[in-house]
Amino acid sequence: MESGKQLTGTLALAVFTVVLSSLQFGYSLGVINAPQKVIEKHYGRTLGVWSERAAVLSGNGTEEDGFPEAGQHPAVVMYWSLSVAVFSIGGMLSSFLVGFVGDLRGRIKGLLMINVLAVTAGLLMGLSKMWKTHIMIISGRAVMGLYCGLILGLVPMYIGEIAPKAYRGALGTLHQLAAVIGILISQVIGLDFVFGNDDMWPLLLGLSGAPAVLQTFLLPLCPESPRYLYIIRGKEQEAKESLYRLKGPYDASADLEEMRREKEKADREPRVSIISLIRSSLYRQQLFVALMMHLSQQLSGINAIFYYSTDIFTRAGVSQPAFATIGVGVVNVVFTLVSVALVDKAGRRTLTLVGLGGMCCCAVAMTVGLKLQNEYSWMSYVSMSAVFLFVSFFEIGPGPIPFFIVAELFSQGPRPAAIALAGCCNWTSNFAVAMFFPYIQTWLNSYVFILFAVLLLGFTVYIYLRVPETKGKTFEEISALFHKGRKKSAQGPNNGTELQQLKTSTDA
Ligand code: GLC
Repeated sequence: MESGKQLTGTLALAVFTVVLSSLQFGYSLGVINAPQKVIEKHYGRTLGVWSERAAVLSGNGTEEDGFPEAGQHPAVVMYWSLSVAVFSIGGMLSSFLVGFVGDLRGRIKGLLMINVLAVTAGLLMGLSKMWKTHIMIISGRAVMGLYCGLILGLVPMYIGEIAPKAYRGALGTLHQLAAVIGILISQVIGLDFVFGNDDMWPLLLGLSGAPAVLQTFLLPLCPESPRYLYIIRGKEQEAKESLYRLKGPYDASADLEEMRREKEKADREPRVSIISLIRSSLYRQQLFVALMMHLSQQLSGINAIFYYSTDIFTRAGVSQPAFATIGVGVVNVVFTLVSVALVDKAGRRTLTLVGLGGMCCCAVAMTVGLKLQNEYSWMSYVSMSAVFLFVSFFEIGPGPIPFFIVAELFSQGPRPAAIALAGCCNWTSNFAVAMFFPYIQTWLNSYVFILFAVLLLGFTVYIYLRVPETKGKTFEEISALFHKGRKKSAQGPNNGTELQQLKTSTDA
């Protein structure tokens, strides 16, 4: 193997360490589902609106008699919905700060600093029985959301910057792999005979801060991103040392030369703020591609499936839908592993197209299955298989690829701003699906997945027409793919004016 291209121990350690954050993100996404009923009871008791005694006495669930289930009381519904939703709101807000935190003292120190958020969130939730539980949990989830909004940008950014280009896809996919493992762990230890019960649920929620503790010890052993050191900080020697630590002893001159050219370009261009990135026509095409990739991840309906799967399994007569949902979690992990193996061979574009196209067919199959399962009982197997296949197609491409392709699409100058915008788009669309899916479901009933099929078809066509392959290319080559048409005007007055405008808006 050519020296400098192998996977060294330090590179493996660095990637393992940062994806502990992704594990935490996945765990936080999944952990809130299983213990819902148990925590709702606790909310009901703390708020003084529900008790076991009243529940037993009430036959019909009217307000005078008390509610048979705590989750039926409006105050509990409100506080519970807030506990779920506030996580995404935190993520949306902090995603704007990704560039700031990453550039302040570097990617590693940035991740180290924000672990304070993760540990605080874990403590708030873990100790939530000690004070007003609903307030403690809502605060904990909000702080955890702030943390996750930052890591969703910082982790793919760091991995993209340190990975040898031949493995950039596989290593980038490890972010999603760790996230889906986090979801699976939370599903398993959330079962009622593990931690999802009345006594142990605070520990279940509190554990979401645990990976941050381990990560805090490991981060100081990880090398800072050489691209950050050289291109942003101008520290060539430190960048070189970091390269040697990550890649082993090798001739670093080609890597350094590429970074030197990018630095020259970055020094000529001003630092690109979020506002100037939105305004600039220079990066419009890349930005559009980045946002569409993230929209396609969320508006594919993946989280609606996670939400809906228990219902589909119940309707299909599965007696323990929680276990079938864990089955979905396992398939989720297995197919993310498939993506790790394929992404640097088959390419980002092909896997995304296959994934979205496959999901579109599954959404149609699911609709047919749901519609006809009352007439033909075997149709329930069609809808069940469609759920498993839908998730598999998602993890092959549309799940992992959007996270790291944004770092690939942009050069050092606009990269943090682009990652911030893409992250915000991801959180907002995730939130929108969680908010509106139940209403759309009531409205469209069994046809609800047709809506996602139409969206999936649209995204497939867009990606076919507009997204270039980035596999195995340097950042410089990728950027050139988007500026082919501009080459001629690059020295012309138009481009100059654009750069000048960018400069003015960032200086302002
Ligand atoms: C991605 C998505 C997340 C989804 C998960 C499912 O991480 O961002 O919303 O729940 O995949 O595996």
